[in-house]
Amino acid sequence: MCGIVGYVGKQKAAPFILEGLRRLEYRGYDSTGVAILQHGAFRIVKKIGRVANLETEVAKSPLTGTHGIGHTRWATHGGVTDANAHPHLSSDGKIVLIHNGVIENYSAIKKFLLGRGYTFASETDTEVLCNLIAYHYAKQADDAGENRCLAAVRKALLHTQGTYGIVVMCADLPGEMVAARLGSPLILGVGDGENIVASDVSAIVTRTQSVVYLKDGEIVHLTPREFRITTADRATVSPLVDQVTWSVADAEMGTYAHFMEKEIFEQPLALENAMRGRFSADGSTANFGGLNLSASEFRGIERVQFCACGTALHACMVTEHMIERFARVPVECDYASEFRYRNSPLHRNTLFFVMSQSGETIDTLAALREAQRKGYKVLAVSNVVGSTIAREADGGIYQHVGPEVGVASTKAFTSQLLIGAMLALYLGRLRDLSFGDGVEFVRALKAAPDLVRQALAQAPQIKAIAQRYAHHTDMLFLGRLALFPIALEGALKLKEISYLHAEGYPAAEMKHGPIALISEACPSVFFAPQGEILNKIVSSMQEIKARKGPIIAIVTEGVELPAGLADEVIVIPDCHEAVLPIVASIPVQLLSYYIAVERGCDVDKPRNLAKSVTVE
Ligand code: G6P
Repeated sequence: MCGIVGYVGKQKAAPFILEGLRRLEYRGYDSTGVAILQHGAFRIVKKIGRVANLETEVAKSPLTGTHGIGHTRWATHGGVTDANAHPHLSSDGKIVLIHNGVIENYSAIKKFLLGRGYTFASETDTEVLCNLIAYHYAKQADDAGENRCLAAVRKALLHTQGTYGIVVMCADLPGEMVAARLGSPLILGVGDGENIVASDVSAIVTRTQSVVYLKDGEIVHLTPREFRITTADRATVSPLVDQVTWSVADAEMGTYAHFMEKEIFEQPLALENAMRGRFSADGSTANFGGLNLSASEFRGIERVQFCACGTALHACMVTEHMIERFARVPVECDYASEFRYRNSPLHRNTLFFVMSQSGETIDTLAALREAQRKGYKVLAVSNVVGSTIAREADGGIYQHVGPEVGVASTKAFTSQLLIGAMLALYLGRLRDLSFGDGVEFVRALKAAPDLVRQALAQAPQIKAIAQRYAHHTDMLFLGRLALFPIALEGALKLKEISYLHAEGYPAAEMKHGPIALISEACPSVFFAPQGEILNKIVSSMQEIKARKGPIIAIVTEGVELPAGLADEVIVIPDCHEAVLPIVASIPVQLLSYYIAVERGCDVDKPRNLAKSVTVE
């Protein structure tokens, strides 16, 4: 939520910052802006809309300085206007600032600053923080040898409540910048004669693979040749320089029309990467390197609690089915945002899991912290190495599917389903799942990439269906058991990227309300796989058909529906029940994607959304 990038080095800053903003645009795209320090003064260009608008503005009068900051905004305080776009300049012209987060006590600070002559050009909380830093900068002399801008940032942050990832420049100090974080991600890229700060590594990897993941409460002072990290009480932190393992090409779109399309078709490879090296030598169970709990500790677990948001929560709900079915351990799933405030009674021997593609979702992070505060161990499933959630968890599992750029999650979701199934296998094999059942399970998981390839081969047929149904304004997604969360996910995907009203429901529950929506104008997407309750699902379809509702049926091979029941039939391969949710996800991803394309929507950057939600 909001992307920030700062550069201090020997090359022109603006082209690098604009390129970084393009890569960070998925974090917010209401407005963008850049500030470059040249000839002792700030040149600030900011515009509502996408980075492309900003590039047009910058091209009118090129920016030449080698020291600058840029921001792409997801609006919180204040509407989407040029004035509210970042960077913000203090009213004395000394300090310029970009910010990702929310300053909760901004109105008290603003009142204080108004009384001291500071003025405000925007409605944002960020401009308030910017002026507070300027106030402290103006007030103090060089403080016991500490850089004056750094000292001013430190003082201002002492009086600030809320969350922030900030980068600050001072007009008096060319070739320097200060960055700090609390609750919002910030990464330092260590280059050759240049240093970079950014919200995530995608904005850094074009220049360097060496990064330092800053921790909450840390402040960094940067020059082209040096950086120094300190804590709020001035203690120096020894930096741990990590190497990023993915390359620029991983975050490029290649020949695809959208990142979402690329990421959908990448799923066979993504699944292979997520399971690589994670099965036992005897082929009967899963192995995870970073769980940091012994087999006997896992054996003592009596309950599992999952917390997550959005798509990741749907992955948890499928995992609930898998763990309860194969390991016979009771599982609860909760919206992270609800869990943190509900204070529900928890069983003593509960193991916590959070799932988060980005590893930065603030509600999920808060749920993790709340569970840890109560003394529970929390494990995390995350895709982003070094993310806050990955670092704060007591152990965890990386998804290893490479950067996911499309705002609507696809490959991250199916890899979470895969890891969830592997967890169920692992816990099951510590209990009553037999060696033979384990071997069969492992074989089924290894077959998943090929089964997904087969499902992807239906893309032309699904595209044609999408074109026939794209004019509708309502759609239901109905499934049962482990495919109910896939129905929820199908509806969410469609809402997110095509702005259609869609609801996911357990198929049999549909008659307790949503059936009132059914008419020729409201199609239903039904999951109808082989299994003991296929007949019940067919009965639900009959109830829809009797009310003239069009039906798109997603069936597994071998299912024969009564003639004329479904208007469209999409066939996916029949497979092990642990793999079915993965394979069944493919047609609903493709359906949503092609409907959104048909409706002319901005697939990778749907309105009002951001991929990484770092505000509450
Ligand atoms: C946002 C995104 C969703 C995502 C959710 C959780 O709402 O738009 O696609 O599922 O955050 O994100 P996480 O990174 O925690 O998985």
